[in-house]
Amino acid sequence: MRRALLALILVMPPLAASADDDRVPPLRDPIVLKECGECHMAFQPAFLPARSWERLMDTLSDHFGDDATFPPTTVAAIRRTLVAGAGRAGGAPSRITETRFFRHEHDFPDRVWNDPKVVTRSNCPACHRGAERGVYEDD
Ligand code: HEC
Ligand code: HEC
Repeated sequence: MRRALLALILVMPPLAASADDDRVPPLRDPIVLKECGECHMAFQPAFLPARSWERLMDTLSDHFGDDATFPPTTVAAIRRTLVAGAGRAGGAPSRITETRFFRHEHDFPDRVWNDPKVVTRSNCPACHRGAERGVYEDD
């Protein structure tokens, strides 16, 4: 399976855009990095629009089946950072992995997603070693 994934990545066309375009603004807020990086990597705010972050922050007691509640002041601080850095995708998707952007960039066969190292689509660092730094270009 690992082979399949590597092969897939190797056949991806080289990136035409400049290095700057491939870099997502990294997340530097220590509170968000800590609290939202506990169960999965702390996703960069630019991957979802403000409406999505607002809803996620309003529903932390039932966060994809987990309880991700924090004290109100922490929630308010996290919300500010996420909304300030939000992207401009349409609608209010609950998941990055459901956005049109993600689907377009990740149109892979099931065997890639079924790789035991990937586990779930939201496991960005499984395939992007620089994900936590906002680096998603060809790796
Ligand atoms: C107690 C564990 C836990 C904490 C803390 C947590 N999450 Fe999650 N989060 C999850 C789980 C479980 C999922 C679902 C993962 C999956 O299905 O791939 C998830 C999924 C997500 C997704 C959707 C990923 C996708 O599929 O695109 C986003 C966005 C997200 N979390 C944001 C946050 C933010 C923001 C915080 C901090 C306020 C946070 N999470 C804190 C457990 C947690
Ligand atoms: C199964 C492996 C895999 C997973 C998991 C994965 N990606 Fe990707 N992603 C790729 C591949 C392969 C590409 C296309 C080649 C490239 O540009 O690196 C890509 C492309 C991208 C791009 C475009 C990069 C560019 O320079 O054009 C972004 C941004 C991105 N992924 C973000 C994410 C985020 C955010 C997550 C987690 C929510 C994620 N990916 C999860 C494999 C994966």
